[in-house]
Amino acid sequence: MSLPWFQNNFPLILAPMAGVTDPIFRTLCKEAGADVMETEFVSAEGVLQAWHRNRRYVEFEQKHRPLGIQIFGSVPEHAAAAAGIIVDAMHPDFLDINAGCPVPKVVGKNGGSSLLKDLPLLQRIAEAVVRELGHDCPVTAKIRIGWDAEHICAHEACRRLEDAGVQSIAIHGRTRSQQYGGKADWGVIDECARLVSIPIIGNGDIATPQDVKRVRENTAVSGVMIGRAAMNAPWLFSRARHYLNTGEIPEEPTVNERLDFMLRHTSMAIESLHYGDELITMRAMRARILAYAKGIPGAKPLRPQLARVSSLAELETILAPLREHAEH
Ligand SMILES: Cc1cc2nc3c(=O)[nH]c(=O)nc-3n(C[C@H](O)[C@H](O)[C@H](O)COP(=O)(O)O)c2cc1C
Repeated sequence: MSLPWFQNNFPLILAPMAGVTDPIFRTLCKEAGADVMETEFVSAEGVLQAWHRNRRYVEFEQKHRPLGIQIFGSVPEHAAAAAGIIVDAMHPDFLDINAGCPVPKVVGKNGGSSLLKDLPLLQRIAEAVVRELGHDCPVTAKIRIGWDAEHICAHEACRRLEDAGVQSIAIHGRTRSQQYGGKADWGVIDECARLVSIPIIGNGDIATPQDVKRVRENTAVSGVMIGRAAMNAPWLFSRARHYLNTGEIPEEPTVNERLDFMLRHTSMAIESLHYGDELITMRAMRARILAYAKGIPGAKPLRPQLARVSSLAELETILAPLREHAEH
């Protein structure tokens, strides 16, 4: 029996993004139509050593369900013990194992995408976590297609993860060496989706409702995961769903609606105290604000100011000319 969100559905999933998919952004993406979401990742070692300090990375609200919590680690017993602590404390809908993260901090500890260089270890980690969680919580995984172009291993990784009892796999169609450059290889994703019987989620470069429809029609994936495009335009989820359901592409939000969204996100982040006081929140929000501003007519010259903005009131002042621009 496949995970409920795949039954009679083609789920549109918000990709886990460290520093981005915090509880506020998840709330906004849920409102914007994301069907499934994940927390940003948490280190298995961190959970074992200081759960109280790491818990904040994986906190969520009931309205974010179905929701997965993602861990990374390289020692099967530790990953299993950390997964047990997380599931007992948080009761997520699934526990996701990260085997795709390319950043040196994670790869240096043999976690994330470095597991693609040692597939037997990846399999042992998955088996240990599946054994630990039993029927309490389904286990999923997120991988890249390989370490580099000479070592594409997604096919074998998917087989091994399926054998380990993992219930779905998200594949980002890039190698670790590519980081975020080049193009995602949807051919490999499609081959993997045809190879195993668990659902495969395709990920990489989905930016428009047309992209979603194209991969639904032309590949065997069971859902798509959207990352960077959602940072710029969270309404992509509902626009894509509408297109899948009706064949009509809804209008993009107007400039003023986009500015209102940006301000609402910022004020929700300040009110939540998730990052700290207003100044600390604004520092955390700057990259987010710059992502929202991308593509808004007249916003480019304002980027240096947006990169330094330190209060909500100042943000409103900086954005005001864009409203006037939009009205003329
Ligand atoms: C800022 C940022 C943080 C990310 N953090 C994570 C993470 O914590 N876990 C993970 O599995 N992938 C992470 N990713 C990768 C994304 O989940 C996704 O696989 C990647 O961005 C490709 O999808 P896209 O082309 O739709 O952005 C991150 C990506 C970005 C841009």
